[in-house]
Amino acid sequence: MTKIPDEFVEELRKSVDIVDVISEYVQLRRTGRSFVGLCPFHNEKSPSFSVSPDRQLYHCFGCGAGGTVLRFVMDIEGLTFSEAVVKLAEKAGLTLPVAVDAVPDHSPQNQQRQRMFDAHQLAAKYYNYILMNSAAGVQALTYLEGRGISRQTMVDFQIGAAPDAEDALVRFLRKRGYELPVIVESGLGIALGSKVVDRFRNRVMIPICDGQGRVISFGGRAIAPDGKPKYLNSPETLLFHKSEVLFNLHFAKREMRKTRTAVLMEGYMDVISAWQAGVKNAVATMGTAITVDHARVLKRYAETLIIAYDGDDAGVKAAKRAIEIAGQSHLGVRVATFPEGQDPDDFIRSKGADAFVRQLHHFALTELEFLLNELRRHAQLDSAAGRTDFLRQTLALLGERGTPIEQDAELRRLAMEFQISVDALKEELRLVSKQHHKRKSFQRPPRPEVRLNETPLPRKDVVASNHVLQALLTNSEAYHWLLEREVDELAQPEQTALLAHLYHFRSEHPDGSAIAFVDSLEDPLLARLASSLLMEDPPEFDQDVIDDCLRIIHLQRTEEALQQAMEELVQAQVDGRDDIDVLKHRVEELQTELNALRQQTRGNVTG
Ligand code: UTP
Ligand code: MN
Repeated sequence: MTKIPDEFVEELRKSVDIVDVISEYVQLRRTGRSFVGLCPFHNEKSPSFSVSPDRQLYHCFGCGAGGTVLRFVMDIEGLTFSEAVVKLAEKAGLTLPVAVDAVPDHSPQNQQRQRMFDAHQLAAKYYNYILMNSAAGVQALTYLEGRGISRQTMVDFQIGAAPDAEDALVRFLRKRGYELPVIVESGLGIALGSKVVDRFRNRVMIPICDGQGRVISFGGRAIAPDGKPKYLNSPETLLFHKSEVLFNLHFAKREMRKTRTAVLMEGYMDVISAWQAGVKNAVATMGTAITVDHARVLKRYAETLIIAYDGDDAGVKAAKRAIEIAGQSHLGVRVATFPEGQDPDDFIRSKGADAFVRQLHHFALTELEFLLNELRRHAQLDSAAGRTDFLRQTLALLGERGTPIEQDAELRRLAMEFQISVDALKEELRLVSKQHHKRKSFQRPPRPEVRLNETPLPRKDVVASNHVLQALLTNSEAYHWLLEREVDELAQPEQTALLAHLYHFRSEHPDGSAIAFVDSLEDPLLARLASSLLMEDPPEFDQDVIDDCLRIIHLQRTEEALQQAMEELVQAQVDGRDDIDVLKHRVEELQTELNALRQQTRGNVTG
């Protein structure tokens, strides 16, 4: 994509006000110099979301979300940086510079796409009208009612009915000025000799939307129980690439963002049924397996993926694949299971919405439990060879994916079941894990973060590092001063990363604003860190204070190095190694350094 010129973005920043923009999504109330409201990025009952008009930044003290107005639009709408710029520019009435890709382009290809979008939108309205208001839709309506789909759900998803006629939709679209080639290329009509006929006839029509909610294709469900195919889908078109689409993403992303959880299903009707049961964060692939691209999209909104596939062999197989794909994108995984032969929709209809929600949240298995169950299901435990096989595979799996606690619990269970000592199993596990580490293939997704009710006091060196970063963010003098001292490491990796970005930014844009810097950060975590630092009142740049901060950071690092050196020394003594003197010397050196640092540190900048 062509880069949008920095000057334009700067002008845009001056013309929009963050409070105006955010007010369109969040009800804000003024308190002193800032505004507060309920955070749109996580579920909360009391407001911890704060917007500062002075600094043109927002920050949530609950979930840590934060950044500039552009970051807000990117995150809430799921847009790229350029798309967010275009959207805000339109709102501000600014004309975009030419040669920006995201500007409406008037190429023939794009005009064709636009016509196809419009045709789909109109077709969805047409089908929905037939379903809800006409005799031609009665059969479809009866079918949907028989499946327990409410009128409200039909409206929410704009479900429709294709009449049982040769070319009803084609004629309708032609009357509205759509040319036959557009109708054919959008997949709504099929050219048959000299005629163009409707692709969908006598089916329940489910519109499929892109991430922004524009209809791009349809899934048509046969009404007769033996209708073939059961689902007739739009072909691949300029708008619709089956392998990239997630059904219901445009609705689900809001809830995914709030709960940081996404639910993945196999079928359209599962998602629709779940929605009606109150589960609003579910999506489905288009009858295909989940791809890395899908997972990456979901990861934008969620940390955990609950796989809710059909309760049959195909569903289990697909779930195993989905676990791998989700893991690659660092999504944590849970697997909800359903009785043999039932899919989520069947389950909801037979057991009700509450039971379904419990199945998703309380009874969902961890990835490890699910895979262990699968091993057991396929094991031949009635033969000695089968039992050995089962044990070996189970230990391999535990070594690969179990946490120490999970491993311990499972080993105890296995010891009981197979009458083997826990110690023997542990030893076996150690051997398998060793082999596995050598092969090293699987990377664990991060565990969902633990939220503590009582946050421990922040470490002094972390606070000091933040102080250094604040000085650098708000003061150009600090930049040269720190460069001269060759400060290149702070307490935590993300602080060090932010420092490196800041040096780079300052060297390229000596006069760039702090806000422009925040927007230049592609990593949302760093953008959050930077904006949270900017939300606080900027300290005066004081060399003595920064010197103290650097000493505190250095002190902490030296303490850690000493601790490690002492542990190594003890181990060396236990092992009777011959480098004990070298280690002793190192410990002494570190002790001397530490004492000197302790004396220098007046150390009360951090309170
Ligand atoms: P299923 O066969 O599991 O359908 O296909 P389902 O969701 O349970 O449908 P109902 O409840 O019988 O109406 C799952 C998905 O596979 C694709 C569709 O995307 C469907 O939602 N599929 C299935 C097709 O594309 N064509 C078909 O003929 C069947
Ligand atoms: Mn079904």
